[in-house]
Amino acid sequence: MQMAYTWLYFFATLLPPTRAVYVTTLEIRHEFASPDCVDRLVVNANHSIPGPAIEVDPGEEVEITIVNLMLSNAVSIHWHGMVHADSGPWHDGGSMITQCPIPPGSKWVYKFKVNEHPGLYQYHGHIGGMRVAGLGGAFIIKGDVSAFASEADGGEVLMHLKD
Ligand SMILES: *[C@@H]1O[C@H](CO)[C@@H](O)[C@H](O)[C@H]1NC(C)=O
Repeated sequence: MQMAYTWLYFFATLLPPTRAVYVTTLEIRHEFASPDCVDRLVVNANHSIPGPAIEVDPGEEVEITIVNLMLSNAVSIHWHGMVHADSGPWHDGGSMITQCPIPPGSKWVYKFKVNEHPGLYQYHGHIGGMRVAGLGGAFIIKGDVSAFASEADGGEVLMHLKD
């Protein structure tokens, strides 16, 4: 029996390392910017519009800490397209629906299991007009989506359109 465990351990060390949980942080700020050529107060993630793309594997567990660095506004982030089948609705980000928003100067960790379906999803602010004020970005589940994609020269280009 002891020998069997030894062999099991040996083979386990040969497996490629897998990421147990995808962990990251998004810092939410009010800043002046002109993403559409007009200076205005925007809300961004990590100083950018769109915010950084989040890339995960199908079915991966995520823990995304939202740090609200705004002085006057609460925030929540909705993970658009995620089903939350295993984790329940509490990390869906619907402010005043599935959670109280994250107050200014504090942080909160969204924990959920992402969908099994590869493709391009998005995250965005889900309180007041924060989505149109700039808060959002791509949420990519890696994998083969070629059955749905058309051929493109020069590789993939990620475009984030807002109105
Ligand atoms: C956002 O910025 C924080 C702080 O610099 C950094 O730790 C984190 O990795 C960034 N998030 C992403 C998704 O790039």
